[in-house]
Amino acid sequence: MTSLAPASTPPATRRARPRRFLMVRPERFEVAYEINVWMDATVPVDTARAVAQWEALVAAYRAAGHEVHLLEPGEGLPDMVYAANGGTSVGGLFYTARFAHAERVGESALHERWQREAGARVVVAREVNEGEGDLLAVGGRVLAGHGFRTDPAAHAELAEATGVELVSLRLVDPCYYHLDIALTVLDEERGEIAYLPEAFDDASRAVLERLYPDAILVAPDEAALFALNSVSDGLRVFHPAAARGWAEQLAERGFEPVPIELDELLKGGGSVKCCTLVLRG
Ligand code: ARG
Repeated sequence: MTSLAPASTPPATRRARPRRFLMVRPERFEVAYEINVWMDATVPVDTARAVAQWEALVAAYRAAGHEVHLLEPGEGLPDMVYAANGGTSVGGLFYTARFAHAERVGESALHERWQREAGARVVVAREVNEGEGDLLAVGGRVLAGHGFRTDPAAHAELAEATGVELVSLRLVDPCYYHLDIALTVLDEERGEIAYLPEAFDDASRAVLERLYPDAILVAPDEAALFALNSVSDGLRVFHPAAARGWAEQLAERGFEPVPIELDELLKGGGSVKCCTLVLRG
């Protein structure tokens, strides 16, 4: 006889927590260069469509009671819509981004200025890191990706600045060049996640299995639809609409999937989470 519920049973009470997000309207979005395998500069981008889809995401967040702050898009920075890469709010401070590719370097100062004006305690990164693209706060620790963009030295730098435990995870598939395409934080407070096992090396997979034995494992064909590039408030999970199998998995665990059409922004290699920087503190 056992009193333990099976791992797949949803906690009796899922609860949405109000979040504050920083986002950048994609009015300057285009695919003018290729810095990830999803980008193809020969495919035309419909910027007006990107803006309309993005506005629907903002509306969905606001309808759910979340606060959305806006940062002006900088000139000549078409990828700035992917606001999650602009830094990391964690441990009571804002750790700036330092982009791996020259094309995006200019975004960092614009984020830094917004954070300073908002009163954040800012730590300027010396090491290359792409913000919440690779640095995800969950359950009192930060899961930290490396292998394509963020340098492991940045993991150490952030750990030292915050005193927060950093868990380094190595990404091995160029389709999943950022951690936030390979792994989703479903409940930041409880420490629940979902991930694509194939996106990590063996050692990192073993770490994830040990730390998160109840994690939702996502199938490769769903992950390829950017399923894991979702944003959860602890109850609702705003996810790329095409990932229907993922939505079913979420519902089985007691989450409320909220489908978002954002395919125009897939042309730059990003979706819901990439467009959403979480503000904390
Ligand atoms: N074109 C952008 C880049 O390659 C996409 C960034 C996606 N953002 C994210 N948080 N995964 O840098």
